[in-house]
Amino acid sequence: MKILFLDQSGKPGGAELCLIDIAKPYQNDCLVGLFADGSFKDLLAKNHIPVQVLTDKTIQVKKESSFSQGLASITQLAPLIAKVVKIARNYDLIYANTQKALVVGAIASFFSRRPLVFHLHDILSPEHFSKTNRNISVALANRASLVIVNSEASKKAFIEAGGKAELVEIVYNGFDPQKYINNETEIQQVRQKLELEDKFIVGHFSRLAPWKGQHILIEALAKCPSEVTVILVGDALFGEQDYVKQLHQQIDQLKLQNRVKFLGFRNDIPLLMAACDLVAHTSTSPEPFGRVIVEAMLSGTPVVAAASGGAVELVEPGINGFLATPGNPSELTEIINTCIQDKQKTDAIAQEARNSASQRFHVANIDRQIAQLLEQLSVSS
Ligand code: UDP
Ligand code: GLC
Repeated sequence: MKILFLDQSGKPGGAELCLIDIAKPYQNDCLVGLFADGSFKDLLAKNHIPVQVLTDKTIQVKKESSFSQGLASITQLAPLIAKVVKIARNYDLIYANTQKALVVGAIASFFSRRPLVFHLHDILSPEHFSKTNRNISVALANRASLVIVNSEASKKAFIEAGGKAELVEIVYNGFDPQKYINNETEIQQVRQKLELEDKFIVGHFSRLAPWKGQHILIEALAKCPSEVTVILVGDALFGEQDYVKQLHQQIDQLKLQNRVKFLGFRNDIPLLMAACDLVAHTSTSPEPFGRVIVEAMLSGTPVVAAASGGAVELVEPGINGFLATPGNPSELTEIINTCIQDKQKTDAIAQEARNSASQRFHVANIDRQIAQLLEQLSVSS
């Protein structure tokens, strides 16, 4: 099957990293069309997945845009849509992986007469999207032949926003467990390089953005014993510079300069996670899926996640991880202290998480699921 994948981002967020795994089995017969240049293109090329940047114009739609702004940007999209229509005629299917890709993909699907699949990685709720954006997304997604969602939580929000339930299939993100096996010497070297050998390292692995809640972890850290140190791994991928400034101010005010390290965007996540004593996920709005939670499990590091959205589908508290109320630093402090004090129990939880996640989220299972869904489409169309 020849697939034209579309994604708006030049940078590798979670939806883009997921797309690499989905496109890989089709690498001999697919194209990933991007709406921006950047390091995501290089990552696809490195994985031998054909990729083309389809426009050099920035697309201006924001998550909170109004109807008139939305319409203006559709007009602005005309040359890109025309290009996608032309390319799509050489493919069997259009697979839109992001909201803006859905806008372009839905219109191109109509003109090229190719079926549309939409992979929804977001929770379409008022916390994340304006009413206009939700309405546009749902109206276009309802014209697709299939809507793949990354969790029960994303499915529920889609249907509540008016999405057709019969189109929806849940497929979790997939991972290759082998990539998360590290040797002890390398792990110790990372801790030494960070100059944190004798510390209790809590790692946070998300782009720096207000709803990812790095500020909650810093507030929790202020009440933790002095051996606890935080590493913040990730960058402000989508221009959240004000938030980065706020984080530095908060750290200065709490006099935590020596206990928080900003490592920026990294490509060695499995090793860094393995070097942590605990991984904290602290999103303040519901997380649609939360790749970092599963990656922590696969790395064998205990994980605490914010109890909302897809995260509650991943973590069974006390069995394979910990859950804390979103936006509640005191609970987070308590869980960090439990992990320090009861290392044996915490290690057992991490081991159970590694075993179960290696099967439940194995990329081979997820690829099989996607292949079956796409096959069914081509049989019925
Ligand atoms: N990530 C990365 N380098 C970093 C920080 C994060 O490669 O410095 C990866 C992380 O391992 C995860 C993804 O970015 O696979 C983030 O996905 P997630 O679903 O957790 O959140 P999103 O940012 O997509 O909302
Ligand atoms: C989005 C979501 C994240 C999810 C990822 C992959 O970026 O914000 O929660 O894990 O997509 O589906």
